[in-house]
Amino acid sequence: MNNKLIGLFDSGVGGLTVLKALKETLPHENYIYLGDTARLPYGTKSKETIIRYALQCTEKLIEYDLKILVVACNTVSSVALPYIKEKYPQIEVIGVVEPGAEAACNETKNNIIAVLATESTIKGKAYEKAILKINKNAYVIGKACPLFVGMAEEGIIKGELAEAMATHYLKDILNLKNKPDTIVLGCTHFPLLKEAIQHVVGNTIHLVDSAQTTAKKIQYLLKQKEMACNSTLHSSLHFLTTDNVEKFKAIGEPFLGISLDNSLVELVDL
Ligand code: DGL
Repeated sequence: MNNKLIGLFDSGVGGLTVLKALKETLPHENYIYLGDTARLPYGTKSKETIIRYALQCTEKLIEYDLKILVVACNTVSSVALPYIKEKYPQIEVIGVVEPGAEAACNETKNNIIAVLATESTIKGKAYEKAILKINKNAYVIGKACPLFVGMAEEGIIKGELAEAMATHYLKDILNLKNKPDTIVLGCTHFPLLKEAIQHVVGNTIHLVDSAQTTAKKIQYLLKQKEMACNSTLHSSLHFLTTDNVEKFKAIGEPFLGISLDNSLVELVDL
């Protein structure tokens, strides 16, 4: 069991931010990552489509010898997690919404939390429900920021353009009399724009990224279930993509923070 793989999937390369946090927390584990780049973005699609895609991604990954499945996509975690768990009860499934909600609740002092995410994540209200489950006094403001996804993929993550877009999305929230003191970056792509967003909101507002908390939760779970990899010798990384391998490598690098030049990236059909 201990040398089995940790499987992750996302609509594209965004979930590599979760893999990055996992690799830093659990460097000796073996990972397989599926990015459904052919059908990105999921965040603008209907609930039914997201569920269908999520089940297909899961079906592909369970062909491998997994010990845990990480839904490294906020949109899928928000919309489809119960459907994945119901259809595949044999595998431990972890999403990114609950860890993000926990981190936000630990951080807030004034109980006002904003969530920036894709349209489908905001519409599904999963963050709001998860936050209110932990802190019933919280007030949650959701804001869909769909263009951040394309900007992160294009590498427009700092400077004038990124800050102008952050101002566009955040101005209403920043004009509120009772402003949030905590903002959840509720989309895999948004941590790349953290510097620009922080610049716009100022240093008194805390930005929460669920990747780190998700990694800690998985570390705890593996330890608790005695499933952590006991070898300190090697860690393997295997990538699957549903479109252009070279593009996956080029766009994925800044998300993962390491070169993908010599990595095993395989083209698959779902
Ligand atoms: N991975 C998605 C998320 O975290 C963002 C990209 C998409 O819309 O597919 O919500």
